[in-house]
Amino acid sequence: MSYKERLSDINRDGPVSLTQQIVDVFSGAIEAGDLGPGDRLPPTREVAERAGVNHLTAARAYRKLADLGLVTSRVGSGTFVRTAAAAAGVAAPRSGSADPGWQHYALPEETEMHSDRVVTDMLIQADQADAADLLPLSVGYPASSLYPVDRIAELTAEVLAEDAGEALQYTAIEGPLALRTALAEHMARRGAAEDPDAIISTTGARQALALVARAILRPGDVAACESPSFFGVIDSIHTAGARILPVPIDDDGIDTDALEALLRRHEIRMLAVQPRLNNPTGRDLSPERREHLIELARRHGFFILEDAIYGDIRFEGETLTPLRAEAPDHVVYVDSLTKTVGGGLRLGWVAASGPVLERIARQKRLDDTHSVTLTQLVGARFLASGDHERHLAERAIPFYRERRDALLEALGTELSPVASWVHPRGGGHLFLTLHEPLDDRELLDEAIRQGVAYVPGAAILPERPRATHMRLSFGFLEPSEIREAVRRLGTAIRAVRRARRPSAAPRSLPVA
Ligand SMILES: Cc1ncc(COP(=O)(O)O)c(C=O)c1O
Repeated sequence: MSYKERLSDINRDGPVSLTQQIVDVFSGAIEAGDLGPGDRLPPTREVAERAGVNHLTAARAYRKLADLGLVTSRVGSGTFVRTAAAAAGVAAPRSGSADPGWQHYALPEETEMHSDRVVTDMLIQADQADAADLLPLSVGYPASSLYPVDRIAELTAEVLAEDAGEALQYTAIEGPLALRTALAEHMARRGAAEDPDAIISTTGARQALALVARAILRPGDVAACESPSFFGVIDSIHTAGARILPVPIDDDGIDTDALEALLRRHEIRMLAVQPRLNNPTGRDLSPERREHLIELARRHGFFILEDAIYGDIRFEGETLTPLRAEAPDHVVYVDSLTKTVGGGLRLGWVAASGPVLERIARQKRLDDTHSVTLTQLVGARFLASGDHERHLAERAIPFYRERRDALLEALGTELSPVASWVHPRGGGHLFLTLHEPLDDRELLDEAIRQGVAYVPGAAILPERPRATHMRLSFGFLEPSEIREAVRRLGTAIRAVRRARRPSAAPRSLPVA
């Protein structure tokens, strides 16, 4: 039986996962010499069809084969058997040889959160986009072409030439003073005067969110979170063991009257909010609601976790100061340079005042002692030299704006009869709602079949969705690709609408 025939023969009811069975088919073919060094593997779409699996399962299997060192992907040309693959294949653990099944009993029980799958799929989709002819409107970070590569290379060389001893050495838990000073000045330029000692440098804003949630919340506590939000915020609160109460947002940001009503019934310890250019709506908290929110925090004694990661990427509307400037003892501020300078640099930070700062520093020490010294020193120079402000104004904002405009134009042409969306004033995302709910799972599967991916509402809402929502991110694709992606999305929506039986009730994906 050829390996292609074996793909059609995989066992849906057996103990071995579908992904692993596909991996086994290919690694077996490589080991047996049916696939030799340099041979091209079939496109993941073909594998998915033959095996009768979702396209993402096929993509995951290819990713696993790459992790095992058996294949390599070349952007634009496909996936190929590596020259050293046969040797690697023999050494690699296969489900048949060394059976790791005992681990299922030894490991503690764990429920996979919906966002785990979304993030894993997003990274696969970004990686496999070319090979799989997939246009991922799901990827929440910009294309690498935005990053100031030459300048970062120069500054890295400078740091290594001048400060190699410091750059390769352990540093303070909070990060080098040079970076904290540059970040304090960066925040002061935005209207929130900071002492460098109020700042803790983190490994991306994602770590900052986790540290703050762990510093403030204990299992069983209640936290509130704007809805929709970023899945990392929702995860951080869940992982700290707290219960999340969703607070709706509209064009003026979080509904503070709804929050006030919740505060009458619950003891809320922390509220997570993005007051400037929320991901995914791209909207701000209005001045009246800012005031109301601060007043509520003071009256009820809760912390506000202000996530400001998109706050500088503004296309329209008045520039707003960070909320932290108005109530530094209540607001713990989280930010990073990842959406403009380089996601891989993981340059994030927290600013906080009072005992909570100590608690966050302790969590940072428990987590990873400190972030990478070299990139922190490079980041310090990038900020202090004025490069960052220039990059933001001349490159990053026009880059995102051009893509936002392309998305709005394409949506207007393709989707206005079936959907409505929130007009983003900035940021990298758009929040869309279908006029008629559709089965979330069917729609996402059909979209991927059509060659487009998005983040479904269930991953970005702390509560179970009542309508079909999508987050469409516009930083990763070229404007022409965005237009094509929206066209494919329109095709997918129409196909699922046509196939829908009138009696079928909409089915949602599980909530994180
Ligand atoms: C609102 C928001 N906060 C935090 C993060 C995490 O950012 P980082 O890449 O710096 O960890 C993201 C990333 O997508 C985000 O969208």
